[in-house]
Parts: sequence; C-alpha cells; structure tokens
Amino acid sequence: MADEKTTQSSNAPANTPNTIEALYLEDRRFAPPTEFRKNAVLSDEDIYARAARDPEAFWAEQAEKVHWFKKWDKVREWNAPWVKWFLGGKTNVAYNCLDRHLSTDRRNKAALIWEGEPGDERVLTYNDLHREVSKFSNVLKGLGVRKGDRVAIYMPMIPELAIAMLACTRIGAPHTIVFGGFSPESLRDRINDAQANVVITSDGGWRRGAILPLKKNVDEAIAECPSIKACVVVERIGAAANITMHEGRDHWWHELMKGISQVCPAEEMDSEDPLYILYTSGTTAKPKGILHTTGGYLVGVTSTFQWVFDYRDNDVYFCTADIGWVTGHSYIVYGPLSNGATSLMYEGSPDWPDKDRFWAIVEKYRVNILYTAPTAIRSFMGWGLEYPRKHDLTSLRLIGSVGEPINPEAWMWYHEHIGGGRCPVVDTWWQTETGSILISPLPGITTTKPGSATRPLPGIEADIFDENGNSVPLGGGGYLVLKAPWPSIARTIYGDADRYAKTYFSRYSPDVYFTGDGAKRDKDGYYWLMGRVDDVMNVSGHRISTTEVESALVNHPSVAEAAVVGKAHSIKGQAVVAFVTLKSDGANMAPAEKIAELKKHVANKIGALARPEEIYLTAELPKTRSGKIMRRLLRDIAEGRAMGDTTTLADPGVVARLRDKYEAAEQ
Ligand code: WTA
Repeated sequence: MADEKTTQSSNAPANTPNTIEALYLEDRRFAPPTEFRKNAVLSDEDIYARAARDPEAFWAEQAEKVHWFKKWDKVREWNAPWVKWFLGGKTNVAYNCLDRHLSTDRRNKAALIWEGEPGDERVLTYNDLHREVSKFSNVLKGLGVRKGDRVAIYMPMIPELAIAMLACTRIGAPHTIVFGGFSPESLRDRINDAQANVVITSDGGWRRGAILPLKKNVDEAIAECPSIKACVVVERIGAAANITMHEGRDHWWHELMKGISQVCPAEEMDSEDPLYILYTSGTTAKPKGILHTTGGYLVGVTSTFQWVFDYRDNDVYFCTADIGWVTGHSYIVYGPLSNGATSLMYEGSPDWPDKDRFWAIVEKYRVNILYTAPTAIRSFMGWGLEYPRKHDLTSLRLIGSVGEPINPEAWMWYHEHIGGGRCPVVDTWWQTETGSILISPLPGITTTKPGSATRPLPGIEADIFDENGNSVPLGGGGYLVLKAPWPSIARTIYGDADRYAKTYFSRYSPDVYFTGDGAKRDKDGYYWLMGRVDDVMNVSGHRISTTEVESALVNHPSVAEAAVVGKAHSIKGQAVVAFVTLKSDGANMAPAEKIAELKKHVANKIGALARPEEIYLTAELPKTRSGKIMRRLLRDIAEGRAMGDTTTLADPGVVARLRDKYEAAEQ
C-alpha cells in the first residue's frame, strides 16, 4: 500500500493494462518483414530527419499531393496558441474525396463497401458516391442549408451517413455527428451548442438484432432544439421501426432524392473554413465542440492514411470504428477516400450473429488492412481462437490499433492470431483534437515493440515533460506534449476559444499543446502511452468525463453527492465506478434496486456507454480537509487495493478511517 502511494502523484494515470511492470519486461522487437519493406510506400528513414529540418517545407510538400482550386500563399501562421495552415489556399474536402478520382482509373473502383448487420450489402463506386453526394448536396440546399450552416447527423453505420457527411462538406456546411449510442439529452445539448438547422437521422439501426430507436431519440431531442428547421430520415428498418413523421418538419431521404439534380459543384472553401465540429468529453460536465478546418485537416488525414496504413491501390481497408467518433471521420471517410481507397463499413456488432463476424467479413471481402481497438482485441482473446480460425485471414497484410493503450499481451495475440505473424502492427496514438495520427510506427521502416506506439510521425514534435515543463530524459515518464502545431490540429472549441486556450495551452506555455496523456519514453526513444492524467476515463476506447457522469448522478432526486472514477478493467481498459451518497429520503429503497435505478438513470442521461459498472452507496465521500474528493483513494478502493472487501463501505466509519490513514501517510 505505502509503495503504491509513493510512486503515484495525485493525478497519476489510472492503472491501465499498460502497467509500468509490463513495460519494463517488454523486450520483444519486430522489424518490418523484408518483403513488406521492399514494397512499402515509405521505406527510407531519412523522412524523419528531412521533416525535422524544415517542418513547413515538409508539410507544404505533403499539401502538394491534394487538389487546390487555388494554391496557398503562406504555409503556416503561428501566433501561439493560434495557428493557421495553407493560408489563402482554396480547396474542398469532398472534391478531394470524390471528383478528383473521376478522371482516373478509380472512377469505377469501389469507394465504399458496406455490410449491414443483418447481412445485406452495398458497394458504391467513386462514380456512384459522387452522384449520391451531389444529389444530397442539392437536397440540403433545397432545405435552406448554406455555406457555414451547421448540420447535425445522428445515424447508424449505413452508406447514407458517409453520403450525408460528404454532402455537407461539398457545400461547406460543417457537420456535427453525434454517435448513435448517445441519449436524446446528449443529442439535444450538442445540437443546441452547435445551433444546427437540420438534423439527419434514420428510422433506426440494427444492433445485435435489435432496433436502435434513432428517430424516436431525435424527436425527443429536437422538441427542445429551436434552431432545427428540418429533419431528414433514411429508411433503414421499415415498418418495424414504428416511427412518426412530423408534417412540415420531417422528410424521407428517398423522397427528397427523387428527381433531384445530380450536378452540384463543390464549394471553393478557404483553407481555414470550418469543416466539422465533433463533441468530445473534457474535464467538465459540458462536452467540447472540437472544430476542425479544411486545408490542414485534409493534408493531415490524407498523408497519415497513406503512410501509416501503407495504402496501395488495390487494397481493401476495414476500420471497425463508428463514424460517430473521430477515428471514423478521419480513417473511414476522409483519409481513405481522399487517397482513392476502398473503405469497408460494417453496421453492427462484432458478435452478431456470432463472435466471428469480423473474421467472416475479412474473408468475404479479402480485407488487406484492418484497423480496430484494443478493447475489441481483448474481447476476441476472451472468446477464443476457434473464431478467427474458422476463417481465411491470409489476405491481411497490415493490422492497426487505436483508442487506448494496447497491452503487450493483446498486441502479441493480435500479431500472431490475426496477423498470422506476418503483418506489421501499427499502434496509432492520436485524439479528436489532433485530427490525425501523430505517434505510430511507419510499417516499412519502424521496428515495433509490443505495447509501444513507437515514435512521433515525421513532422511531429512530441516530448515528455515533468510537472515543471522540463523534458524528461529517455527512460523516464511524465506528460505527453506537442511542441509545435501540425496541419490537422483542432483550431478551437466551437464558441469557446478561451476554453480551448485554457484546456490545451495553459499547462505549460501557449506554444506547448498538453495532451492530457501520461507517457514514458524508453532508452530507444520509443513512446509508451500510459492513459489519461486528467478526469477523463477511457472506457472501451470511448472518452467519458468523470464530471459528466457525476452531474448525471446528482441530477437524480435521491442523490446527494457523487464521485466517479475509472477502474482498471481487463476488457474495457477502464470501467466507470461511482460512489454515491443518498439524500436521507433516498434510502427508502433496497440498495440493489436503488443501484440499478441509478445506473439506468446515467444511461438515460448520457447514453449506455456511460452506464456505471459498479455503484457503491456510501455514507460519505473521502475528502481532504480542504474539501477535495480524494479520487486516488476511491480508485484504490474500486480496484480493491485500499481494503480487501469493499462491501464494508456500508460502515460509515470506513471511509473516514481510510482517509485519515491516507492523509497521515501523505505528510
Ligand atoms: C487515448 C481517439 C494509447 C488517449 C483517436 C487519447 C490512446 C484518447 C491511443 C483520445 C493509443 C488513443 N495508445 N492511448 N494508440 N489512441 N488513445 O479523442 O488517452 O476518442 O488522449 O480519439 O484516447 O481519444 P479520442
């Protein structure tokens, strides 16, 4: 116990599967296979040095690879913390993702391969996608959407989601996509913050054979969204969805698309015009609307997609994320399509109808590149080898991981059993705010080590700082920072520039981006990500704010006070654990029932993804004498370190005694 304490500062990273112990033991290395290296998009180590010598020239060189209606006048303008890239340049992201390929051999190549959960499928070529996007752009214009207007999207993983995004992008209307697992209230708050005029949804989506009631959630949400003028509904489910269309406000997608012109020129956007807003959890109860702009984001996702996934023209690429998260934005839609790739989208759950669904998809479409999350990999490990072994996975040539630290054991399992020992593994670190991957192996160059995201990509200036802003020498750990801006960095928090500056650029100085992640760097300069150092949890790769869950809990009439921590979890990485004190009249129900009610309450308020795994009812919360909740103690309790048996929590003296012991040891 005492040892545990002395090695952790009060905001030390949670005990994710990437423990310091695991990391010290890790000495396995995997060099790029010779054959892979020979054919790789990047195989010359010199790219790192070249980028470091002159980052602006390096990024300008990358920017030359995308289409500009008008070339930029200036590569970068940096008034820390504010930055602009490719100033004066005019481009359009949808043009780069579609039109640019139509005059090439890719015209009739599959852009999107889609598989629905029930097994239905669709393939859209670049020509098809261009046509559908152009038509839907005209639909949006017909609904009064103009350049700069915000459009909310709340949809399942169906092709219309990608079409809707690209249509917004085509006409210069920033989209704000809300993951379909969020509650009506969460959707309402995001729509109101973005002041969106139109919302696009579907009558429902399939998830483990059940119907996600998306349209019903939208109805509930927009009852309190005065900015919404119209709602477009894709028919995905049909009669079984049992929805109501509101005359004058709601429109069927297929009816609006009937007979509409398929000609809609892409809007010439300024490089710094907004592209999209994506909400993510921060350390307060209010999610942050991360704003990305056009030119820099396009350059970031286009180049990193090609480098990290070593994309070659005939590859089928499958990213298992949901487009409602940044991974789907950057690496299902924008990065792959701007490279003319074939991107596979799957609607449903990995265990439906059985636990081999991903492997069945890999075999069926001969997938070459797979990008998934450690949480999923740990689930696959638990399900057993019989599932991947049922399928031919030999088409795979590269496999990637994203969203949370990957523990060496999961890395090795992925490498051996999915990658067949022959595929490079790319563990990619990045964030909603970074827009594109920043730390990752380059598969034709980097020797990987299981559990390490290896090195910052060319053009990225990362470091590890201690509390005082000194760079920590190799071999040590601290806070991951970025010391210079890159093209796809978020430009602001929508409507709250102060919060942006404060959250990311005040920890050290205005020219140092604070990631909120803890990391260690080994003797070879490899980065090992250790998890969040702030009040953000990472549950199954989803960012959830402890404060947001706490405020959902205290919103319940019988809750007096709540404290939430992330607890290490073998599959999810972290699980939400809440400590709750009830108001005196709240204790009139059996504890088990009350706990179930509170869990449901959180799921209703935020979404099922935030539902606490465990709730402890306690007579008091451990606080310091100055009134600060002792989260570290709570985490120790939740993880069973502070006391063997947490059921003793019902004893009102327990927490007080523990707190006293902690405080005494602290001095
Ligand atoms: C975590 C997802 C370790 C990290 C793209 C970061 C990772 C947060 C990795 C961002 C990785 C993401 N190794 N940790 N490879 N990738 N993270 O905004 O804590 O949903 O700050 O973006 O996920 O989550 P976000």
